[in-house]
Amino acid sequence: MPKILILSGPNLNMLGRREPQIYGYITLADIHDRLQQYCTKINSQSAAPTVEIRTVQSNHEGVLIDTIQEAMGWADGIVINPGGLTHTSVALRDAVAGSGLPVIEVHLSNVHAREAFRHTSLLAPVCKGQIMGFGGRSYLLGLEALLGLLEDQKAK
Ligand code: DQA
Repeated sequence: MPKILILSGPNLNMLGRREPQIYGYITLADIHDRLQQYCTKINSQSAAPTVEIRTVQSNHEGVLIDTIQEAMGWADGIVINPGGLTHTSVALRDAVAGSGLPVIEVHLSNVHAREAFRHTSLLAPVCKGQIMGFGGRSYLLGLEALLGLLEDQKAK
């Protein structure tokens, strides 16, 4: 049964109220609900429960790093929206690289259509892939992509 950490960084707790012209009105709780509904749906289609998610959001870099390190003990993969730390945090990148877990980077907005400082992701090179620009749905697409990767690995 794949266990997946859904990790969100700084300011993502403010979704729904924060720059809605960019991020829309969806809240992080709504996004987590949708992910949970998706898991419930796929679990109901199989004889044994197949997917479990745990969701964590923090505004603190160190908490995000601790959470990734702890995930090494229980998770099969991570979907991460690192928020602004995407563009600045060597330490978070090192945590992702050091975890050895498959990680998918997601963003609600298309960061390449925004300010130049958002065009660089320090995490992207150590992630399996990136999904961005689909609003809250980016998380769901990230989860689907990760589950697909884990399925492919199992088949090998
Ligand atoms: C974001 C994009 C980042 O550049 C920004 O700092 C965020 C949100 C997104 O989901 O679009 O906090 O990660």
